Order: sequence, then structure tokens, then C-alpha cells
Amino acid sequence: MKYVIGVDLGTSAVKILLVNQNGEVCNEVSKSYPLIIEKSGYSEQNPEEWVEKTKAGLAELIAQFDGDVNDIEGISFSGQMHGLVLLDENNQVLRNAILWNDTRTTKQCQEIYDVVGKQRLLEVTKNPALEGFTLPKILWVKKEEPELFARAGVFMLPKDYLRYRIAGNIHMDYSDAAGTLLLNVAKREWSNEMLELFGLSTEICPPLVESHALVGNVTSEFAQATGLSEATKVFAGGADNACGAIGSGILSEGKTLCSIGTSGVVLSYEERNDLDFHGKVHYFNHGEENAYYTMGVTLAAGYSLSWFKDTFAKEEAFDQFLEGVDEVPAGSGGLLFTPYIVGERTPHADPIIRGSFIGVDASHERKHFARAVLEGITFSLNESIEIFRSSGKTIDSIISIGGGAKNETWLQMQADIFNAKIEKLTSEQGPGMGAAMLAAYGCGWFSSLKECAKSFIQTSKTYNSIPENVEAYKQLFIIYQQVYAQTKKLNEQLSQFRK
Ligand code: XUL
Repeated sequence: MKYVIGVDLGTSAVKILLVNQNGEVCNEVSKSYPLIIEKSGYSEQNPEEWVEKTKAGLAELIAQFDGDVNDIEGISFSGQMHGLVLLDENNQVLRNAILWNDTRTTKQCQEIYDVVGKQRLLEVTKNPALEGFTLPKILWVKKEEPELFARAGVFMLPKDYLRYRIAGNIHMDYSDAAGTLLLNVAKREWSNEMLELFGLSTEICPPLVESHALVGNVTSEFAQATGLSEATKVFAGGADNACGAIGSGILSEGKTLCSIGTSGVVLSYEERNDLDFHGKVHYFNHGEENAYYTMGVTLAAGYSLSWFKDTFAKEEAFDQFLEGVDEVPAGSGGLLFTPYIVGERTPHADPIIRGSFIGVDASHERKHFARAVLEGITFSLNESIEIFRSSGKTIDSIISIGGGAKNETWLQMQADIFNAKIEKLTSEQGPGMGAAMLAAYGCGWFSSLKECAKSFIQTSKTYNSIPENVEAYKQLFIIYQQVYAQTKKLNEQLSQFRK
């Protein structure tokens, strides 16, 4: 039996999957790492930590593997998007990575609009200037840390840096490059126009490759440290959302994904590169050749839940923490939560807004709060679904993966709030599975990712919406949608007290 490895370099942990030729996950290892939050709005990680944790995870996986390591034919990657990793001329890391959920770059986003113009930015990059994207972070370092920036040789994204340390070569794939605001998304090339406008040299951008491209083999040093074979082929990999889509079979028009990790996304496959969503949703290159996807993002989806649990019940496991939420009726007894704990992206690109619990009543117990958090996250994702529906898309069936697919009550809640059929897969590992599929396709096991998906991905359970819950949630969603505007001013006033 042959195997591939999918590495998902997430925001809270690296998850490593060993997958066999039948698409079965034979083993999985996860190693977590913290966010470095120096002050409100900042979010960083030390790239060395990604490398060390991945090394330790792979070593553990290989130690537990009782087959021949030479049968592990390929390895590929899925990664948290947009994070800026700056390397000097000798490819040494210059500073901590600034992550996708860091919102310090509001001024730089404005600068991008001033210099490029909103319309032209959308024409070239297909996306608006958002704090989380990479170019604003590059401009922030250029402005705030000029001496350090003067030493920068190349910039990378998180999984590209990790892969560089495993295979020794520097590359970036199209799906991740799409989130930098420096790629001409439709033409699939670095935009000289964008680079010139911001005084950046082309050398700062890594060579572009397809997600299934072979970029090298495991270096002898990394092989020795982990037990992997030096013959294992290394494939580029893709952005975590592109990989989540691949790993869930979102490989043809009409397919929609809801993926809940630290962030939460609703994502839809696009064959075309010339549609106009007026920047309301992100529009990126897929990990499949010449394909695209559109997506709305809730910045703190799983993160809202883990923040809530860690703050109020650190010692409990998630299952225990969520016990009783199924006994609370739709609407959590009039308690409403907005998940804006680190600001928001879709539909309100706003780094200042913060979350709220509205309607706290003396009768509420912890389970009401827990349910309200789940509902608030799902309402936020429903805002993205509404954007897709109002642009003419039919969304009556959605594949759900990640944290949101781990809990029966949450899956039913998605069916009821999205008013759509929800499908759970036999493996809800999305991004890690997508990375493994890129390696499987790259190794030549299949003639296309679609063929691979036919053999690797199966639905395990379907959840249909319950009409009375759909009705209740429709009314609650109207109330939910008012909270943003009603709390915006209050949060602006409160922001001076944040540290
Ligand atoms: C997408 C985004 C997040 C990260 C999470 O634009 O910023 O979904 O990719 O890893």
C-alpha cells in the first residue's frame, strides 16, 4: 500500500494526516501553538515554532507507522492564508509572521485605495484591501520597521516557509498568492503594476507554481530529524480554504462549502475569472488548475467558541462544554451573540467592531450562552450565504467541515439557519485531506483532482432543515443583522480602552 501525507498548517495547530491509496486516514497527529497577541489587533506567530511542531508531529507519525517509509510517496501542504513571513538575503526569518487575523493595517489599506483606486484594485486583484491580506502587512513593515524591511529579500506565506524548510526551495502557489493583493488573479501572474505602485521589487515575490507541482524532495536533514524518506516527493500545496474545498470535493460549479476553523468561511466554486461581486466576497484562484472560488469570511468562528470555552471553562473538553445546548430552543431564550471578537470581514470589513451578548436574562444558564455563541457564528456565516443568494446563486445544499461538523446540534443548526441541506463527510478534515489529495494527484495516482475526489470523499450523513426552526431563525437573523450598526458607535468609543 502507498501513502501520502497532508500537512495543514493552521492558526491554532499543525494537523498532519497519513492517507492511503483508498483515501483512508490511517493516522493523524496534531501539535498546537499559541498566537502572540502583543496588543489588541495584533496577531503573530514565530515561524520557527511551525517548523519545530511539524517536525515533532511528523516524527511521531513516522514512529507510529509500521509500514515501509519508502511507501510514503508524497507530502503536500495546506496553510493559513495571507500571513507575512519576511526573509533576508540569506533566507533567514527577519521577524515574527504577521497573521491573517491581525488588523493593525487599516492605514495601509487606505493607502492602497488612495494609490491604486478601488476599481482598479478590484480589476487586477479581484479583491478589496482588507487588513488581513499580505500587501498591507508588507507596507506596514516598510513604514514602521524600515531598517528591517531594507534587509528583506523575499516574502513568503506560512505554508511556503514551512515547505521551504522541508524541501529547501522557495515557491508560492497561485491559490495562496491570490490572497496577497499582489497577484493578477485572472492572468495568474505577479502584478508589475501593483509592485511598481508600491515601490516593491519583483525579486521580493517567489516563483509561482500550481498547487500539485513537484517542488523537490525531503532534504536529508529533515528526513533524519523525522524518519521520513529522502525519496518522498514534496508538492507545493495551497491556501487552507482552497485545500478545504479540494478535500470536500468542491470541484465543480454549484458546490458550496461551510468550513469552520479558527475563521469560518462559506465558499463557492467558480469556473470563470471574470465575474463581478463588487468586492463583497473574496475571489481567489483555486488549488485546481484554472479554477477559482468566491468566499465570505467570519474572522472569529471556531475562535469565538474556543475563546468562550477557554475563558469560562478552560479545563473542560468541547463535548462536555457543549452538553445541554440541544435542550435550549432555537434563539437561546432571547440571547444573541455577535462573533466580532477580533473585528469582522464579511459583510462588515471592520477592525474596530467587537462582539456582544444582547438580551442577557436572569433565567439564562451557561448552556444558553454556549448555544448563543454557536448561533451567532452561524448567523455571521449566513450573511455570506445571503450575499451569494442575492447575486443569483442557488444554495440548497452545503458541505460542512471543520469544527462545525463535529457536533450534531451545530450541524442541525446550520441546516436551520442556512435553510439548506447540510452534508457531513466521512472525513471532515477538509484542508489536511485536500493537501493529501494534492500529493496523491501530484504523484500520478489520479488523472485529476476530481477523479481523486470521487474515490476519496464520501457523504456520511445529511441534515435537513426543520421548518419551525427555519421560521424562528429567519426572524432572529433580522434582529442579528441590526446589531452591527447599533453597536458600531459604542465600539468606536470603547476602542480607546483596549490594550
Ligand atoms: C481567508 C482567511 C482565513 C485564513 C484562516 O481569507 O483569512 O480563512 O485562511 O487560516
